[in-house]
Amino acid sequence: MRVAVGSDHAGFELKVSLAAHLAGLGHEVVDYGTWGTESVDYPDFGAAVGRGVVGGQADLGVCTCGTGIGISIAANKIPGVRAAVVHDVSSATLAREHNNANVVCFGGRLTTPHVATEALDAFLGAAFQGGRHQRRIEKIAALEVSSGAGEAGGVG
Ligand code: RB5
Repeated sequence: MRVAVGSDHAGFELKVSLAAHLAGLGHEVVDYGTWGTESVDYPDFGAAVGRGVVGGQADLGVCTCGTGIGISIAANKIPGVRAAVVHDVSSATLAREHNNANVVCFGGRLTTPHVATEALDAFLGAAFQGGRHQRRIEKIAALEVSSGAGEAGGVG
């Protein structure tokens, strides 16, 4: 699987750790930066990962910032992205099973590499359950269309 990764400075070390883990599992890692601990703006990297996933350059995305929150908000502005901040195996599993999340986000200041790695493995190993959850995913997509975000000239 091809996995896009991206972070700001506060998530950089966790991103490096998760990217190494992904590569060790045999996944192809596409790194959208940042590439150091110099202060940067998380929207740039959340958007880059989101565009990589929606554009087909990657199958899934992994984003990190200090909390996982800011970069998830940014990624979610890209139409077609369903980015979820997760903190443990349970939230990571449900993000896939119920929300069909295609980007998973972690907080480098809140979540240890060990817990984040376990959660990432759970995310990768879980499958969307469809059924009633499919209807809800479609309603999220409809919100993008009704807001104009999914059209040319939108935030994508
Ligand atoms: C950077 O200081 C921090 O605000 C950022 O990494 C993130 O936590 C924002 O949501």
